[in-house]
Amino acid sequence: MLDKLFRKKSLESLQKESEESSLKRSLGVFDLTMLGIGAIIGTGIFVLTGEAAAGTEHALGAGPALTLSFVITGLACLFAALCYAEFASMIPVSGSAYTYSYHSFGELIAWIIGWDLILEYAVGNVAVAIGWSGYFKNLLDGFGWYLPGWMSASTGTQMVQLPSGSWTALTPALEVKYADVITTFPTSTALLNMPAVVITLLVTVLLYIGIKESARVNATLVIIKLILVGIFLWFGLPHFNPDVYWEPFAPNGWKGIMTGAALVFFAYVGFDAVSTTSEEAKNPQRDLPRAMIFALVACTILYIVVAGALTGMAPLDVLANEKPVAEALISVGENNIALLIAIGITITMPSVLLVMQLGQIRILFAMSRDGLLGHRFSNVDKRFFTPSFATVAVGLFVAVLAGTIDIGVAAELTNIGTLFAFVLVAIGIWVLRIKQPDSPRKFKTPAFKLVCSLCVLICLGLMLALPYVTWVRFVMWMVIGVVVYFAFGYRHSRLNRKF
Ligand code: ALA
Repeated sequence: MLDKLFRKKSLESLQKESEESSLKRSLGVFDLTMLGIGAIIGTGIFVLTGEAAAGTEHALGAGPALTLSFVITGLACLFAALCYAEFASMIPVSGSAYTYSYHSFGELIAWIIGWDLILEYAVGNVAVAIGWSGYFKNLLDGFGWYLPGWMSASTGTQMVQLPSGSWTALTPALEVKYADVITTFPTSTALLNMPAVVITLLVTVLLYIGIKESARVNATLVIIKLILVGIFLWFGLPHFNPDVYWEPFAPNGWKGIMTGAALVFFAYVGFDAVSTTSEEAKNPQRDLPRAMIFALVACTILYIVVAGALTGMAPLDVLANEKPVAEALISVGENNIALLIAIGITITMPSVLLVMQLGQIRILFAMSRDGLLGHRFSNVDKRFFTPSFATVAVGLFVAVLAGTIDIGVAAELTNIGTLFAFVLVAIGIWVLRIKQPDSPRKFKTPAFKLVCSLCVLICLGLMLALPYVTWVRFVMWMVIGVVVYFAFGYRHSRLNRKF
């Protein structure tokens, strides 16, 4: 039994799979880098930075030292990216950390990681879809078009209609603000978050049509996104006033900086999605490592600059909301630019959904091809050459959750799931350097012992900074995964044929 649980896929069989892949190889290093940036820049920087800087009822804010939070998480991700890059240069098969673990640790751990990656990609997308829905709703409100309360938040949220006409979730802060009159406002209970459902379904259709089309749409969105960041800096930096706003720089010391880091980790999630497209890359072993590192370094620099600019041009209470970039611009009188950026963010944020969903589908595709999931997940559409059943199944899964659950739950589960994957990938690199020192690697992680150790330590530190309830949910999800493995994958694994 133990032999079976830890059976591994050899490098030769993985290489053969890659050569025989039915997916279309059409992505070059530019497309791949754009996919990386497309997955990285989104809810994290545009939505979560405000709370991470200013803090919430439950979490200390980093203040202007949010720039340091971004440096710390950026470093952890850079170490992880170097490990991913080495794996991607060795194993050119869809499936990312799942496939890498199958080769380094064997089937059971591979399954566990594959199951865990559902938290990173699919549940991550749930958070992004809900974040997008918030921006979209705010934008509609700005034009005086108000979505009914029943369709604008997760199931069961108590909604109230403000005098402006806008429906919003009833929070303690609102109860205080409108203490005398709030009982006279119309109320309702939300049934589902309709915009989050609709955007997820639209992205699913695009993914079904084709990888090249998806990559093209993504590249366009990424370019617009980068221009938006440029516009923000152009109009924001003249108002940068550190003497006023950067005093004190770290109001809650290291605790605030680390809490901020655990939250903004979400902003970096997604660079590894590039490694799920191995079988659609023209030259995966050369281009994937480059694309992941280019994308991550570019975004880290942007994030640090944006966090510095935001906290240096407005006081923290202006940033303490879900659209800090727009609010900071409004606070310095750049109302038109704020509107332009809010529209731009709403248009471009779906690129995150696109790439993360793409990644999830490719991972399920790889797991199914190995016999660990039903064979339908590896069916490829004859016309579009994309995984047909997997695309629809993932789209529906994300849409249902995005319509019904809370963004905080989804984002925290994403963070813990991703950090766990990074830890295993870093350990995997070390294991393979010892066990297979001579296997060909087109990219080698520099100073690997140091990089792997730091990656594991920082990721474990960030995991420990997450709330207890997130750990409970994470462990429950993993236990369900192990049960599913013994009920299905263990018996249907393609490697059974060799035993
Ligand atoms: N990094 C992605 C985002 O921030 C998931 O939206």
